[in-house]
Amino acid sequence: VELTALAIMQDAPVIPVIVLNKVEHAVPMAEALVAGGIRVLEVTLRTPQGLDCIAAIAKSVPEAIVGAGTVRNAADAWAAQAAGARFAVSPGYTQALGQACRDLRLPLLPGVATSSEIMAAQADGFNELKFFPAMQAGGPAMLKAWQGPFGDLRFCPTGGISPANAADFLSLKNVVCVGGSWLVPTHALEHGDWAHITALAREAVALRG
Ligand code: 3PG
Repeated sequence: VELTALAIMQDAPVIPVIVLNKVEHAVPMAEALVAGGIRVLEVTLRTPQGLDCIAAIAKSVPEAIVGAGTVRNAADAWAAQAAGARFAVSPGYTQALGQACRDLRLPLLPGVATSSEIMAAQADGFNELKFFPAMQAGGPAMLKAWQGPFGDLRFCPTGGISPANAADFLSLKNVVCVGGSWLVPTHALEHGDWAHITALAREAVALRG
């Protein structure tokens, strides 16, 4: 079965945005999230260890659906898929990136923050989009405004979202899920506090009432 961007967004109310500096954190971190009910994991390419972390999770945590975040160009997309990523998330959108992901059959969640960016991504066939950076670029009010002209599009807002404001986004009809880094705090990684990550995942799953 081919994975779609929509299926990835529908799996849980929150896609964790994960930044890892140590490959040995990847597998226990992924197992902790899966234990809490979160299996779609976005491991960002913003650290040099990102690709190796994706590979480790793809190999050792079969229950997880691991993807790459911070995918900015075609080379990132190729490298992500080669490492085992099953989807890609980008902070913005370019035609070159869209074409590369289509060629690779790698589901892409492209980032947008303006109406023109939405139109560019939609023209290339992308109807599920990441709204980034969500709080900084207009928050829930922006998504409400987009319901008029872009009622056929669905969003994963990311950036500045926390348990305190996630419900404001998840209650919108054009929001399928949200993204956020709060599920994998640096201190939990550094102290091996996997139980804390599992607890945060459980809370995130419960956000969809
Ligand atoms: C991202 O990197 O995609 C977002 O910046 C994550 O945002 P957050 O750290 O505010 O959750």
